[in-house]
Amino acid sequence: MDIEPKLSVQPELFLVGVDADADIIGTAMAGYAGHRGWFNYLAVAPDKRRSALGRQLIHAAETELTKRSCPKTEFASSGRQRRRAGVLPKPGLPAGR
Ligand SMILES: CC(C)(COP(=O)(O)OP(=O)(O)OC[C@H]1O[C@@H](n2cnc3c(N)ncnc32)[C@H](O)[C@@H]1OP(=O)(O)O)[C@@H](O)C(=O)NCCC(=O)NCCS
Repeated sequence: MDIEPKLSVQPELFLVGVDADADIIGTAMAGYAGHRGWFNYLAVAPDKRRSALGRQLIHAAETELTKRSCPKTEFASSGRQRRRAGVLPKPGLPAGR
């Protein structure tokens, strides 16, 4: 998994949102290698969505990237994530279905 290596490289750019019971309800992983910043693994627990947690996680990651003078960012997502979100068609299906 990517969590262990991330804890040894810019661990402060791995953000975890917790609720009052300290249960994990959101994550965002960011990185900056000197050219542009990246966001990965943005996710909010299904029952906590549409309450601005995703926005807060991105804002917190942007704040950390800005401290490093990061001039621009991109959002990284896998094809599987985009298919799940309905942005890409499933493999084998023609575009637009
Ligand atoms: C994407 C995700 C992180 C958003 O988290 P969230 O906490 O619900 O987002 P917020 O409440 O902070 O909303 C932020 C903005 O995104 C919009 N938004 C959130 N979910 C949306 C959806 N399904 N469709 C359209 N807009 C959406 C909100 O309306 C808001 O915009 P606004 O302030 O202009 O109204 C969450 O839906 C999620 O975990 N999805 C599954 C994992 C995923 O797809 N991650 C992205 C990897 S590709």
